[in-house]
Amino acid sequence: MDLPSGWISSNEQRALADFARQAESPFLEVGPWLGRSTIVIARELEVQNMLTVELNPTSRNFSVSDETVHFHIGDEWLGSCSLREFDANIRPHLGLVWNELVQNLTNHDLQWIRVLQGDFATLRPRTGHKAVYLDVTHNSIEIKRTFKALPAWCVAGAQVACHDISDEALPVLEQYMEVLSRCERLVVGRLLTTTK
Ligand SMILES: C[S@@+](CC[C@H](N)C(=O)[O-])C[C@H]1O[C@@H](n2cnc3c(N)ncnc32)[C@H](O)[C@@H]1O
Repeated sequence: MDLPSGWISSNEQRALADFARQAESPFLEVGPWLGRSTIVIARELEVQNMLTVELNPTSRNFSVSDETVHFHIGDEWLGSCSLREFDANIRPHLGLVWNELVQNLTNHDLQWIRVLQGDFATLRPRTGHKAVYLDVTHNSIEIKRTFKALPAWCVAGAQVACHDISDEALPVLEQYMEVLSRCERLVVGRLLTTTK
């Protein structure tokens, strides 16, 4: 069965599958969208113990100015994309992300994955995760916000993979994790116990 639409390339999918295959459980994902990365990870886990956390954004999380669309949670601005990208890939799913995610996981026989709705940075932490995949690290603001919350959800030195890391964002990420490998915009490493 085809994977849902999403943002990881086929090379990144292979790297993410490699990460998941050797990952310890329980596994935490933040930012599944329609479940593309979730399915890639879940198919490889040795132990079926995974939680995925999704904001389930609505039109209230986006504002348009000229040809640019801004993403925010409450008053916090977290990033921008082009109107073209927004219209093609984001707008059609707004308000439907949660239902589409649950349906896609069901279609792939992955009902055992626990799904949690809300803003990862402000939810009550579920503790003890040993491996994590983050797709909420697109710029320095999101990286800092996410890694400030993350230690409460994880064991010390947890295995971490992050997606959509640009050359500019990499030095910011390295304040929070020891980077061990990189495939396109997917970075794999370990959570540092103290921020550099
Ligand atoms: C780039 S998309 C993820 C794409 C997906 N992982 C894939 O493989 O196609 C980022 C996702 O993170 C979610 N998100 C953004 N900020 C979040 C937050 N603070 N807490 C939880 N989810 C968040 C968005 O709603 C969106 O679903």
